[in-house]
This record gives sequence, structure tokens and C-alpha cells, in this order.
Amino acid sequence: MSSKIFSNGYLENRGGVLYIDGVSSLELAEKFDTPLYVLAERRIRENYRRLYDALKKHYDKVRIYYSAKANTSLSVLKILESEGAYLDTVSPGEVFLALRASFTSDRILFTGTSVRDDELKFLVDSGVTINIDSLSQLRRLLSFHLPEMISVRVNPEIGAGHHEHCITAGRDSKFGIWEDDVIKAYKYAREAGVKKFGIQMHIGSGILTVEPFLLAAEKMLEIARHVHEEVGVDFDFIDFGGGLGVPYRPEEESLDLDLYAEKVLGLYLRRIGEYDLGEPWFFIEPGRYIVCDAGVLLTRVNTLKITPFKKFVGVDAGFNTLIRPAMYGSYHPIIVANRLDSAEEEVYDVAGPICESGDLLARDRRLPRISEGDLLAVLNVGAYGFSMSSQYNSRPRCGEVLVKDGEYALIRRKEDFESLLIGQELPSWLK
Ligand code: LLP
Repeated sequence: MSSKIFSNGYLENRGGVLYIDGVSSLELAEKFDTPLYVLAERRIRENYRRLYDALKKHYDKVRIYYSAKANTSLSVLKILESEGAYLDTVSPGEVFLALRASFTSDRILFTGTSVRDDELKFLVDSGVTINIDSLSQLRRLLSFHLPEMISVRVNPEIGAGHHEHCITAGRDSKFGIWEDDVIKAYKYAREAGVKKFGIQMHIGSGILTVEPFLLAAEKMLEIARHVHEEVGVDFDFIDFGGGLGVPYRPEEESLDLDLYAEKVLGLYLRRIGEYDLGEPWFFIEPGRYIVCDAGVLLTRVNTLKITPFKKFVGVDAGFNTLIRPAMYGSYHPIIVANRLDSAEEEVYDVAGPICESGDLLARDRRLPRISEGDLLAVLNVGAYGFSMSSQYNSRPRCGEVLVKDGEYALIRRKEDFESLLIGQELPSWLK
């Protein structure tokens, strides 16, 4: 496993100590306390460029909309803004952060679900492009505003993902619009005077093979053809969503990026020709792929507890800090940052401080013999790590550091007890 972990060039074993793009994990833990998220700028840029280059080889009009929900730290948004990325957002809060990170509104797409009227008004005022998730949303939007451009999220009936919660298309999915209603939506928008159009899908998250993307792409392109033929709509863009997976388990293989680009864009180019769809922009919306393996969570061992049945390593990060293992049963690689050369000779459950039995970062994990005070590094946490963290059990959220070629900077202070009081008021009768 370790050879794979250190093959990306930014995680390094220097004399048994984990360095993250030239910065000692021990120094960071000492200086900023644990738990601590560490993000490597270089890796975010590399991931973005690798993906962009792979797509661009096949077609000139490609755009990557980084899916902000994976990691909305202002620094991450700034890094991607400087790379020329566009942004996929899901809430007014994400739009607010995107604008703060200097994304102009013409680089922001909003794809929300169960969107309120006041949120629609905020989006209109912000000037972002809105991707419609329901006929209701479209009706409500058009009742007070005529956008120049509208996109519709379709449900292509084919979903995929690493966990049922992360499959976002198909019969049981709350997302997107079914084909017949898609036609209705474009007709309605067109009659209302909308001039420019896009079409979008997102089938799920954490997909490591090309097949599901291709099947869904075929279906969405057919829907696009029907819309074009029946409503006379020309598309400015066709957006294939995110979902590009990253291997977490040692036995998992990376998504074959060149194959993805070749097959999906190959199909795209054939079909837009055959269906007479012109030359729309090709969009994708990856979140995980861009930031996942750029993030490390440092957490300190405070307790060793041996029972007749289990060996528990008690650490200071629980599902308040990283919820993926508890929420999806997700696997994250864990290494002992201060003893990288020790052999893995014990099997442990790695347990957080939250008062729930499900608060385990790993079950039955083979690790070197652990001592209290050891520093663990949980890997592949750059996506859906901090962004899903909470104050559960009244634990202030942890800090975040950005590293770059031997330098580092705190990009998010850890919260303190006062943070637990933000916004709280006592009614007069309890004062
Ligand atoms: N576009 C839309 C409309 C989405 O809903 C999502 C993710 C993405 C793009 C980006 O998907 P990605 O490329 O990151 O797979 N919390 C879960 C993942 C939930 C993803 C939700 N939507 C996890 O930790 O695995």
C-alpha cells in the first residue's frame, strides 16, 4: 500500500516522518494542534490540469466546473479560480463564497434541489446561470424573472455511485427531471422568451469505471436530440456532471482518465454531429477528483484501549471531523505519520471522541503497533472532509492548513468555545 501512497510525489517519507509537499506533519500538528486538515496546493493544481488536458485533447470547447461542495475553503476556490476553472454550486452560500473567491458570475452554475423563492431571487441578483431541477422551480423562477439562459437537469435513468446515498439518477432519485417533463420545461421556457439553453445531468459520485458515464451520456444526448427536434432548442452547453472517482482502498484502481475522455468525448462528438446539435460546450462538474487526494487529516492518538475482543486506538478526530466512514462506511487509508517505517503488525479499530458507537474512522485496520501520542494521517480527505464536518457533541470544528513546496499557511483557524455560542440568544425569561 505505502508505495502507492507515496507515488504521487507530494506525500513523502523522510526518515519515517510524513512530509506533505515538503512540510513536516509533526511540525504542523505541533504548531496548529490536531485534528488538522492539511491541503496540498500543488496536488489540486495537478489534478485540475491533468483532467483539463485529457479532455482538451479531444475537443476545444471544454470547461471544468469544479463542484464546490467537495471543499469550499476560500483558498481552494482561489486556487481553482486562478487555474481558469468554472464552478458548480448548490446553495446561495456556495455562490456567496464563490463570488468572494473572485469567480465572476458568468463562471458560476447553480444546480440546486428544493430551491426556495428567496434563494432563486438571490441567484438572479447574483447573475449566475441556473440549472433547473423541477418544473416547479422553473415556473416560480419565470414568474418573476426572465433569464437569458436556462439549463435543465435531466434524470437519465441511469445512476451510479460508491454508496446508495451518492447515486443521483434513476427511479428513486429526487434529482432532475424525467424525459417528458424535460420537453415541457424547454417549451415553457422558450415560450416565456428564454433565448439560450443548456442541459445537464449528474448521475452520482465516486464512479471508477467509464461504463456508467457512457450509458448515461448516451441517454442524455438522446434527450437533447428530442428537445432539439421537438422544441427547436439549440444548446450552448451539454453538462455531464461530476462523479469521477478516486481510489480509496489499496486494491482499487484509478479511473482511467484517458479512456474516460476518449470514450465520453468520442460519443459526444459523434452524437452532436449525428443529431445536428451544432457545437455546444462540453462541461463536467468534478468535485472529488480535483481535491480528494490533496487532503490529509492529522489526528493524535490519546488513548489505547485493549479489551478481550478489540484493540481501540482513540484519536481526537471523530465523525464530527470526518463523517464519511460513519455515513457511508467509507474506507480511508491511515498511516502513522511519525513512524512510517514501522511494520504493520496489529489490528485496530480507530475510534473518535464522539459518544456514538458508530464513531470509528476505521475498523479492523492493520497498523504498526500504536503508542499514545502517535500522530495518525488519514488520507484522501480533501473532498467531503471539512465541508461535511460539524460541531456535534459541541466540539468546535478543527483548523485547516495549506502547504506549498515547503511553505505553509493557516487557511482556517480552528474554532473555540465561543464558536459554539455564535448566533445563540437566550429568551428574556431564561436570562
Ligand atoms: N454535480 C452535482 C450536481 C453534484 O450533486 C455533485 C455531487 C457533483 C457535481 C460532484 O460530484 P463528485 O465529482 O465530487 O463525485 N458526500 C459524498 C459525495 C456526495 C456528492 C454529492 N453531489 C461523499 O463523501 O462521498
